Amino acid sequence: MTATTIATRGRTLAFPDGFIWGAATAAYQIEGAASEDGRGPSIWDTFSRTPGTTVGGHTGETACDHYHRYPADVSLMEELGLEAYRFSVAWPRVQPSGSGAVNAAGLDFYERLVDELLEAGISPYVTLYHWDLPQALEDAGGWTNRDTAYRFADFSRIVYDRLGDRVATWMTVNEPWVSAFLGYGMGVHAPGRTSSAEAFRAAHHLLLAHGLSVRSLRDAGAREIALTLNLVPVLTPGQLNDPSLVLSAQDAEAVDRVDCLVNRQFLDPALRGTYPDQVLNIVERIAGLGHIHDGDLKAINQPIELLGINYYTPCVVRSGPGEPANPAYPGTEDIEFTGAYAPTTATGWPIVPTGLSELLVRLARDYPEVGLLVTENGAAFDDVVSDDRVHDADRTAFLEGHLRAAHAAIEAGADLRGYLVWSLLDNFEWAEGYTKRFGIVHVDFDTQRRLLKDSARWYREVIQRNGLWR
Ligand code: NOJ
Repeated sequence: MTATTIATRGRTLAFPDGFIWGAATAAYQIEGAASEDGRGPSIWDTFSRTPGTTVGGHTGETACDHYHRYPADVSLMEELGLEAYRFSVAWPRVQPSGSGAVNAAGLDFYERLVDELLEAGISPYVTLYHWDLPQALEDAGGWTNRDTAYRFADFSRIVYDRLGDRVATWMTVNEPWVSAFLGYGMGVHAPGRTSSAEAFRAAHHLLLAHGLSVRSLRDAGAREIALTLNLVPVLTPGQLNDPSLVLSAQDAEAVDRVDCLVNRQFLDPALRGTYPDQVLNIVERIAGLGHIHDGDLKAINQPIELLGINYYTPCVVRSGPGEPANPAYPGTEDIEFTGAYAPTTATGWPIVPTGLSELLVRLARDYPEVGLLVTENGAAFDDVVSDDRVHDADRTAFLEGHLRAAHAAIEAGADLRGYLVWSLLDNFEWAEGYTKRFGIVHVDFDTQRRLLKDSARWYREVIQRNGLWR
């Protein structure tokens, strides 16, 4: 798809023909049935059951009960006109102890879900790892253990062998930065470890897992494979108001270092087969380089068709005393992370739609070979149900702003193929439990009743006209 195929037809700000509209979820956040049909425990079961880890002690035990309600949920998707639905396969449902024996009931569930989607005319986009590592693998070291990457490649193949004849689009790991640095560095996500050295090792092994998974999917015949990253434009507070601002040498270095840690630590190995020097210097100082073996970068740098982009908010930094040190970004003790500017969503994340266009244009420039897909974009707001309606104008405005930004990036030449809203349903928002609602469909967690929010009705019209109102 190129910028020339896009037009502004009449009063519609049109997206390119064939642009994919959809929504996304993840297994642990919606399925529930955590102990049913042979599913083994994952690190998120263990972590969320540990007192003090999630708001209100919430767990994914029941979540949206999607495991039992998937037919009705697929009907909802159909009602919204979704063309694609991105969901993840729970590794512990398919391989309860992370390796070896396969649980037939687990694979059966995903087969039923895929068939239901296909019947509704919705393309299934499968994520193979969305953070629910089998606990047995964590007990053997989790992502700090190189072996986990090989186990993931085996698991990928098991799922592909069952669904590959019906699923065209495969996503390996979701947001490896979050898994590694929030899970093994900061300890605010499962498995709750707090070592920067372990976080860097986990990051490398997640990348290796991606590469090995691509290889095994490819060998089995997969044609469309993606890596999904949380990508973050890094800016100074001054650049937020004036993007053309010329930075001091110190600020420019601070921006570059954080960009390397959060973005290029993953983009470059996967898409170029190299780590940026800035990353290697920090990794060497904190973790040593012994876990990066000869040949790993080659294994990680497999050709892929799509880069999945999860965009929510930029990262705002400047050079200065970074007290207290930010454990999510080891090696940035002399950098200040500044967050205090409005407006924000209910998670406190600043709303900056232009960040999405900047990101897409930059990716198109720096990594021109890979197609782009927004695999997540959305917002939590404090929704209110009244008379069976949720008037979530703030969410609609958020989505509309970001879609305008995506459109601008396409016009500037970015090869953006589609957009998936996060999320279809209100769900288990990890450490925030059920307190942060990202859905375009409201879920009453006491009754499991679903209610289309105004944003869902609006999104249905966007899909219908393949564009926005001018
Ligand atoms: C990205 C993650 O992939 C998803 O699981 C999470 O719910 C959203 N961000 C919102 O925080």
